[in-house]
Amino acid sequence: MMLDPLRIAIAGLGTVGAETTRLLQLHGATLAMRCGRPVQVVAVSARDRKRDRGIDLSAYAWWEDAAAMAAAPGIDVVVELIGGADGIARRVCEIALAAGKHVVTANKALIAHHGTDLAERAQEGGQGLLFEAAVAGGIPVIKALREGLAANRVTEVHGILNGTCNYILSRMRATGEPFERVLAEAQVLGYAEQDPSLDIDGIDAAHKLAILAAVSFGCTVHFRAENVEGIRHVTGDDIRFAEDLGYRVKLLGIARADGTQLEQRVHPCLVPAESPIAQVDDVFNAVIAQGDFVDRVVLVGRGAGAGPTASAVVADLVDVARGRVLPAFGMPFDRLDARPPAPLSTRTGAYYLRLQVRDEVGVLAAIAQALSAQGVSIEQFIQRRRDPGELVPVVLTTHPTDEAKMLRGLAAISGLDSVESHCLIRIESF
Ligand code: HSE
Repeated sequence: MMLDPLRIAIAGLGTVGAETTRLLQLHGATLAMRCGRPVQVVAVSARDRKRDRGIDLSAYAWWEDAAAMAAAPGIDVVVELIGGADGIARRVCEIALAAGKHVVTANKALIAHHGTDLAERAQEGGQGLLFEAAVAGGIPVIKALREGLAANRVTEVHGILNGTCNYILSRMRATGEPFERVLAEAQVLGYAEQDPSLDIDGIDAAHKLAILAAVSFGCTVHFRAENVEGIRHVTGDDIRFAEDLGYRVKLLGIARADGTQLEQRVHPCLVPAESPIAQVDDVFNAVIAQGDFVDRVVLVGRGAGAGPTASAVVADLVDVARGRVLPAFGMPFDRLDARPPAPLSTRTGAYYLRLQVRDEVGVLAAIAQALSAQGVSIEQFIQRRRDPGELVPVVLTTHPTDEAKMLRGLAAISGLDSVESHCLIRIESF
């Protein structure tokens, strides 16, 4: 016997909202069998009613005002697909929870900034706050961490969390084209936004990492802007030197909770060319978790796009339809640990440094001296010949050292007259 339908309202009918609606229409019969009840859209809200979205919306109540829809009766779950950390998206979620409705959202900025508060509101009313689609698109990473790995103490989670950056870095390596040209190509193909800064400056990945850290370690959600670097400064030279040294360049999010502090950072990394994460190219995402009993778990898939994101949204709806409403971050909000952040300056590890120098007597000795004065040991040193008068790239890698020492050494190097510019990239040996 079928239970009553789960009645869904969708706020936002952009590409993900339209695809979620299409998926629910197409797979409605199968989903009803899986859930033991129909999973039905009853209401939708978007700005432009006239736009052709390629789906039949005639059976659904149309709301101009998503906040009013979130408060309306006859709805069990509101799917928030508007986006943005604040404003209407946040209001819709708060109103829906206050009105006793479950909330499903793909909004990483909202959860990264207000996730703990929303989890409290959801828990107090006995509703679900679900956000599988907010991290790594179609990869079921929230479910894997919160449920599949629930038996473990997860000490580390890291990954490629932004498909746009991974596409750009992969294409730079494959084609030898510079960053700007590959970014322009990604914009034409629709992989990068016209304003690409959220992606290429690492903010999008940092939103996702904040959520992953909270779910992995059972801590409150914090977006740490101070520990975020993007990929604008990575050049074709860096990609080629990395290759020669046995590495690939990837933008990674890395979170660790093995001490009393929480390490949470996003930046380009050199990773060993043979490591699993180095093999993940183009728009694909990867998430790697380390649990004390399970050891290492690697999840790879499409981290963006209408289909994969709709797949994750509907997976959350299936959980709600089945009555599987869990604490948003895997434990009650008042048990979430508010760990202090580890400053990036406390990192220990190896470094890649590219310097653009004038080829003058003593420059290499001065660079080596600046590092040795800080106790930083050089592992490899490369200088390539260039035409007379051109700046010469000098590349070195270090043995593992403290970030604070490396930065002091770099400050001394940057002060040398012969050194024009530099690019420092952390080496991670997973
Ligand atoms: N723009 C993101 C990416 C997807 O490139 O991975 C949405 O977070």
